[in-house]
Amino acid sequence: MLQTALHFSHTLLKEVIQVGDTVVDATMGNGNDTAFLAELVGSNGLVYAFDVQEQALLNTKKKLDELGLREQVRLLQQGHETIETVIAKEESLSAAIFNLGYLPKSDKQIITKPDTTKMALDALLIRLKPKGRIILVVYYGHTGGEAELALVQEFSQQLPQEEYSVLTYQFINQKNNPPILFCIEKKNS
Ligand SMILES: C[S@@+](CC[C@H](N)C(=O)[O-])C[C@H]1O[C@@H](n2cnc3c(N)ncnc32)[C@H](O)[C@@H]1O
Repeated sequence: MLQTALHFSHTLLKEVIQVGDTVVDATMGNGNDTAFLAELVGSNGLVYAFDVQEQALLNTKKKLDELGLREQVRLLQQGHETIETVIAKEESLSAAIFNLGYLPKSDKQIITKPDTTKMALDALLIRLKPKGRIILVVYYGHTGGEAELALVQEFSQQLPQEEYSVLTYQFINQKNNPPILFCIEKKNS
């Protein structure tokens, strides 16, 4: 069976992340991706996890404690637009993941936004190592979602093909706006 966008995002991450790597969860939410990344990098690796909501940090911390994965995660209650100041330029990232939209069963007004998503993407590209991947799973059915989808599409399409490969993964015959996955991979320099 074809993988959902969410499942495929984990497949793409697994292919490039090694034990000991440094990676980013740009939208922590309930910590599903954070826990997945923490497992892949192991206790000698590092996951930077960002979210603006206190509840996201509480839920993620609980999940990581239960799974014994807390040690390798830096939980940050701040927007991913601060990546530029939080992560040194010399740090080399093998992967980053975004789930764009709002946190299910939570405040639907707190959504990711095009401007701040772009700031995060600009900062991540500089820090991404060759063969590293940035994955965006874009939910766009809510108010404001189409604008964010447009930003991600434009941003990825204008990346020079000599330096990056970009793919989208999308079910085109499904109702209710299933998420669209984008994967940006840096080529060997
Ligand atoms: C679709 S949810 C993420 C779901 C998450 N991956 C999980 O496993 O549960 C999007 C999250 O982005 C967060 N968010 C909104 N604006 C943000 C920003 N500027 N920086 C980081 N996170 C942000 C929201 O608070 C929300 O928790």
